[in-house]
Amino acid sequence: MNSTLLTKSLIDKLWKASHLIRKAKYAVAFTGAGISVESGIPPFRGENGLWNTTDPIFLEIEFFRKKPLQSWQKIKEIFYDSLGDAEPNIAHQVLAKMEERSFLETVITQNIDHLHQKAGSKYVYEIHGTYKQLVCTECSSEYDMSFADLNYLPPTCFVCKGILKPDMVFFNEPIPAFAKKRSFEEAQKCDVLLIIGTNAEVLPAADIPIKAKEHGAKIIEINIKPSHFTNTVTDIFLQMKATEAMSELGKLLYL
Ligand code: APR
Repeated sequence: MNSTLLTKSLIDKLWKASHLIRKAKYAVAFTGAGISVESGIPPFRGENGLWNTTDPIFLEIEFFRKKPLQSWQKIKEIFYDSLGDAEPNIAHQVLAKMEERSFLETVITQNIDHLHQKAGSKYVYEIHGTYKQLVCTECSSEYDMSFADLNYLPPTCFVCKGILKPDMVFFNEPIPAFAKKRSFEEAQKCDVLLIIGTNAEVLPAADIPIKAKEHGAKIIEINIKPSHFTNTVTDIFLQMKATEAMSELGKLLYL
């Protein structure tokens, strides 16, 4: 996709969005795969989407339980062989700077890529977990992934030899209770929700903007194309790449 032409209408919307953020008492960001696309990480759906080339069955919890080696081989290929080298882009960086300068309280993310933390964001709720941590399927011991040697699959627990699972949410697996609780609390508390790069096709994450809207938040949305939110809850739609929109907002906020 080429650079977005900054039309007068878009400049006006960017200005209004920055004004809302400036005035906000409690602004929260809600991010999806689209924010990391310009860090070289493919989204799940649409053009270049992971689910176009990879069977999601490898990420179903029942499949993992039955065939952990097969599941791990695919997961290593699609996540672990590349995510470690990915770097945050300017959209992640502006969010971190917004937090540092008290324009933003927290980030709720569906991404497992750890790029918000790598950019410097401190208050991040990962509702779909993280690739960075592995958890034992037998004794629940947790490890940073750097402790596991993924040349030997599936990795096993140092304590009980049980199979380790990436601490990300698989299909048909409940989402982490703490992150879910905190994310919905944030949604109800915020007066501005900044949605970046998500299709919002999975529950309960897709309900977060709806909850925020019900509680009176203004919704700013950044996406290269309209999503399910755009004509339902969004107040200001910035049809732009995440890096372009966030770098413009960063300038307007004098970050
Ligand atoms: N800038 C902004 N938005 C972008 C960009 C970009 N450069 N590139 C793509 N997008 C948008 C797409 O238009 C789309 O709306 O990002 C969104 C990505 O959508 P999905 O691939 O469906 O990702 P996401 O919404 O995060 O998926 C949610 O689904 O399969 C599960 O667990 C997985 O966390 C994931 C969840």
